[in-house]
Parts: sequence; structure tokens; C-alpha cells
Amino acid sequence: MTQRVAFVTGAMGGLGTAICQAFAKDGYKVVAAYHPEFDNKDAWLAEMAEAGFKDFGCVAGDVADLAACAAMVTEAEAADGPDDILVNNAGITRDRMFAKMEKDQWDAVISTNLTSLFNMTKQVSAKMAAKGWGRIINISSVNGVKGQAGQSNYSAAKAGVIGFTKALAQELATKGVTVNAIAPGYVATKMVMAIREDILKSIVDTIPMRRLAKPEEMGALCSYLASDLAGYMTGATLNINGGLHFQ
Ligand code: CAA
Ligand code: NAP
Repeated sequence: MTQRVAFVTGAMGGLGTAICQAFAKDGYKVVAAYHPEFDNKDAWLAEMAEAGFKDFGCVAGDVADLAACAAMVTEAEAADGPDDILVNNAGITRDRMFAKMEKDQWDAVISTNLTSLFNMTKQVSAKMAAKGWGRIINISSVNGVKGQAGQSNYSAAKAGVIGFTKALAQELATKGVTVNAIAPGYVATKMVMAIREDILKSIVDTIPMRRLAKPEEMGALCSYLASDLAGYMTGATLNINGGLHFQ
């Protein structure tokens, strides 16, 4: 079998790095997609090489921009062939109570966290279906499942990710392409470390396991969803949140 290609957006962030490493360990060729304004790409690649991950491909582009997504996938395909696995992971927060939320904070989160799934998935889903095998993994959030005060924009986008996952899973179910979401709780990354310290402490106090998740715990779940053995799971949203919320 030829080496499978996994395309990961937001690859150089906290979850993205762990997902890339999990996929590299599984033997996939990893394409690490990063924001064009991210200026630590070379340092990230050096750090990965130091950790034994020497073969990551890289493409730059804004996931909120449809043309940029098309260009990233074209560039990746030219280097490594068509993508077998897509992880829609790039995301942002613009937290604010709704009474004070500005339209640009709403728009930024919806376009980066939700419209990006249209932009990226459009580039790969038909080709996966034609080939008869594919894996699309969308990163939602516990706060898309339960809602979170201060995150009406983010909760709406991440709930939208779940709806998108369920609908597309049905469309691709007979084509060998699975579409699933994971809904992480609070993971120790830059995104969570940006929460005010006292607020973060009060959030951790509500998590039954009383700790943040480790990024590699998300990487392991993506690894399973990408595997052949996960072939009967589609349309699912997997909650991985230390017991913070059950459906
Ligand atoms: N529920 C309801 N009301 C709340 C509340 C809550 N959980 N927390 C605060 N409030 C109320 C306060 O009582 C106060 O009310 P009054 O004005 O009537 O006194 C009001 O909200 C405070 O509003 P402010 O706009 O002044 O609040 P702020 O500017 O100090 O902070 C915030 C707003 C930035 C949203 C802050 O509350 C915050 O950071 N909250 C955490 C949000 C969060 O969980 N973000 C997760 C980011 S990480 C991530 O998103 C990853 C993931 O997927 C898990
Ligand atoms: P992170 O470390 O901030 O990583 C997010 C990555 O997305 C960064 O590399 C960022 O690049 C990139 N990105 C942001 N906007 C982009 C854009 N328009 N185009 C391309 N790339 C863009 O955060 P994280 O915690 O790993 O988050 C990864 C995903 O998990 C997000 O979708 C997030 O919502 C979700 N999630 C996180 C948690 C958590 O607790 N951490 C919980 C549930 C879900 P720059 O750094 O250059 O901006």
C-alpha cells in the first residue's frame, strides 16, 4: 500500500502538533498547514526534527479563505499526491460576553472555525470518494456541545462543526469516506492559557478530573479515527473532556 497522506490545518499549534506527531508515528506522510502570518515555522520544524519527526511537508494559507485552501491542497498534492486524511483543526477564540461582542469578533470566529470546514473539505472530499477511501476529522469543542458563557461565537461555530459532520457523513457513507468530530474539553495549549488565570482556575475546579487535557490525548483519538479499524464509525462526535460534560 502506498503511504497515506494526512493534511492537518493549524498544524503548528498545540493540538495540531500532537496530531501531526501521532500521524507520523502511524506511518503517514504529514502535511502541516499553517497560517501565513505564523513566523515560527522554521523553529517548529527544527523542534520537530529534534524530536525525531523529520519528514513533515508544509503549506501556508488562511483556512478562512477558499482560494488559499485550494492553493494549499494543490501545492500539497503536487508534492505528495492526494490527501487521504484531512483534519480540520485550525481555530481561534474571540471571547466576549454577547452584550459586548462586536460583529468582527463574531465573523472572525465563524469564518475561521466553521466556514473553513467548507473551504478545506471542498478540496478533498470528492477525490476521497472517487478513490473509495478517506477520513475527515473535524475538531469541535465541549463548548460547542454544552455552550459556554462568553463564547456565543465559538459555541455556535463548534456546534456547527457537529452538524456539518453529521450531514456530510451521510453523504459519504457509501463511498468509504468517514466524517467524524472530536469535542475536546480544555486542553493545555496557547488557546486555553490565554484565559484569565482566576477564570481558568475556576473552570478546572468544575472538571471532574481536575486537570486540563494533554494535547497527545487528542492526537491518540485522531490516530484511531484515521485508522482502518475505525471504518464503521461515521457521523460521530467523540467527547473527550475529563468528565466535564456528557450528552
Ligand atoms: N455565566 C454567566 N454569566 C457570567 C459568567 C458565566 N459563566 N461569567 C461571568 N459572567 C457575568 C458576570 O457575572 C458579570 O455580570 P455583571 O456584568 O452583571 O456583573 C459579567 O458576566 C462580566 O462580563 P464582562 O464582559 O465584564 O466580563 P469580562 O470581560 O471580565 O470577561 C470573558 C468576559 C472574557 C468572556 C471571560 O468571562 C472569560 O474568559 N470566560 C471564559 C470563557 C471560556 O471558557 N473560554 C474558553 C477559551 S479556550 C477554548 O475555547 C477551547 C475550548 O474549546 C474548550
Ligand atoms: P492553538 O495552539 O492556538 O492552535 C490553533 C492553530 O490554528 C494555530 O496554529 C493557529 O495559527 C492556527 N490558525 C488560526 N487561525 C488560522 C487561519 N485563519 N488559517 C490557518 N491557521 C489558523 O490552539 P489549539 O488549542 O491547538 O486549538 C486547535 C483546535 O482545537 C481549534 O479548532 C480549537 O478550537 C480546538 N479546541 C481546542 C481546545 C483547547 O482546550 N485547547 C478545546 C477544544 C477544541 P497561529 O498560531 O499562527 O494563529
